[in-house]
Amino acid sequence: MTEVYGIIGYPVSHSLSPFIHNLGFKELGINAVYGCFEVKPEMLPAAIEGVKALGIKGLSVTVPYKEKIMEFLDEIDETAQKIGAVNTILNEKGKLIGFNTDWIGILKAFEVSGVDLKEKKVVIVGAGGASKAVVFAVKKAGAKEIEVYNRTFEKAVKLADEFGVIPKKWEELKNACGDVIIQTTSVGMNSWESPVEEQTLANFKIAMDIVYTPLKTKFLSMAEKYGKIIDGLKMLLYQGIEQFKIWTKKTPPIDFIEKNLYQNILKKGR
Ligand code: ATR
Repeated sequence: MTEVYGIIGYPVSHSLSPFIHNLGFKELGINAVYGCFEVKPEMLPAAIEGVKALGIKGLSVTVPYKEKIMEFLDEIDETAQKIGAVNTILNEKGKLIGFNTDWIGILKAFEVSGVDLKEKKVVIVGAGGASKAVVFAVKKAGAKEIEVYNRTFEKAVKLADEFGVIPKKWEELKNACGDVIIQTTSVGMNSWESPVEEQTLANFKIAMDIVYTPLKTKFLSMAEKYGKIIDGLKMLLYQGIEQFKIWTKKTPPIDFIEKNLYQNILKKGR
């Protein structure tokens, strides 16, 4: 019987996760399929019941459900609990277990780009669901100072309290400086906008954006003039590889998927 996996979010049409997982299934000869489930907020409880009823084997969870989904799960792994967000669900014989692989995706993206975060000053832009995994990862990698800037200051304060980092006001972002800057807001997704001005980006040697549509966002295009850039597709790839391992207990061919993923996004002209 073909096993069913998918991504749950609202919206999800932009997602490249189906590309990653379906290619992995094909390459490893696994009889499974991965699709998109666009679920309206009021339908989320019913959707979770549906996952159990239909025996859907696993889900990726994306915006805006990474935090909200937690209350519907039977078990949450320790790291996902610490982060306070779930991006992966495993259906183990009817028991739904939540995991977070975003933080691994971030760390791997830095690692394969040859960037060591140890003792670095890191500036994080945004304090939403995605930002939590970023802060967790950067702390784990040994950064010495972490500042979080957010449009809604209270959210920066809450996140900073939870993780022991420094909350900063949005108006102060233009004066930010450090070694690494990480963009975690949705600004720049399918639009030519950047939440950070070019003169600020000149104060950093390394810039990462978690947005991957377009592949080179305005933020990254400007940052490239002043140092190394890391695009969001790397994080997507590596968080996806970890999901695949949780679901199938197998490792897909990473280099092959990466090559195809970049070709796919460039072919679409993104
Ligand atoms: P995600 O799970 O993708 O992080 P989210 O939890 O809704 O999504 O968070 C979105 C982030 O993008 C937040 O930091 C949000 O700032 P607010 O907390 O002030 O809402 C940020 N964001 C979205 N649109 C923005 C904009 N136009 N300017 C600045 N920040 C923006």
